[in-house]
Amino acid sequence: MSLKGRHLIDPNDFTLEELSRIFDLADKMIDNREAYGSICKGKILGTLFYEPSTRTRLSFESAMLRMGGSVLGFSDASTSSVSKGESIADTIRVLCTYADVVVMRHPKEGAPKLASEYSAAPVINGGDGGHQHPTQTLTDLLTIRRYKGRIDQLTVAFCGDLKFGRTVHSLISALSRYQGCRFVLISPNELRLPETLKNYLIEKYNIDVVETESLEKVINEVDILYMTRIQKERFFNEADYMRLKDSYILNRSKLKHAKKDMLVMHPLPRVNEISYDVDDDPRGVYFKQAEYGIYVRMALMALLLGVDVNVEGK
Ligand code: CP
Repeated sequence: MSLKGRHLIDPNDFTLEELSRIFDLADKMIDNREAYGSICKGKILGTLFYEPSTRTRLSFESAMLRMGGSVLGFSDASTSSVSKGESIADTIRVLCTYADVVVMRHPKEGAPKLASEYSAAPVINGGDGGHQHPTQTLTDLLTIRRYKGRIDQLTVAFCGDLKFGRTVHSLISALSRYQGCRFVLISPNELRLPETLKNYLIEKYNIDVVETESLEKVINEVDILYMTRIQKERFFNEADYMRLKDSYILNRSKLKHAKKDMLVMHPLPRVNEISYDVDDDPRGVYFKQAEYGIYVRMALMALLLGVDVNVEGK
């Protein structure tokens, strides 16, 4: 099915075949970015960021600019008419007449989904509360595919804040659809993956899940170690955050016990959970992961907009 005109609210909105189409195009764009430099000429990306962001917003902007399009929007809702009480529905009804594709980040779960119901232009969820972050998931899956050559038959450990971390919720849901992936969930007891999500994935996909509080005990069996930040902004009190914030710190010494070809991934930003001494280890791919985010977003927007991506021979 064509991706033209579709919304992306949840990574499972697209079939595995549709995801592969995005990754195939992203691979081509990585190999020959200049060839795609004008495919979105005349197109406009609207960015509605009601929450802070560095990578998501700027990589979307970079992606559209690198394809010859333009960008408008806000990165601080207090400078928009939202501060006067305008609803999401009214904001998007107007914005979709100014832009051809829209990316929205919002602290409330479900806000981009609501926006998509009022938008004539494709809406992309740039992260909604502790719920989902589908374009981070596309970035993560592309990174895994490029480094491992496959997305199936992998042992993936998620470490840190599995309760509030939307990147974890999105990625584990998406990976559950690939054959033979098993999951190791490493977190303090208070920050475990929500039971409803865990049980849903077990029942729907019959996935293999192990839960532990110890990174050291399991690091030797893992193919992908997905580290995450403790999500300070989602805690109800400072004391709990202070107690849990340094629950896991991956350093070079701990990596000695890991497989030689394990990947250390992180959606970024990091705080303390990966020491700087890991940055030089070839297994630490988190900066490359952030870079791949540009290409996967280029591919995504090109396909949602339905522009001609056949640049061979032009
Ligand atoms: N990974 C990610 O979403 O980063 P930002 O919050 O900087 O966009």
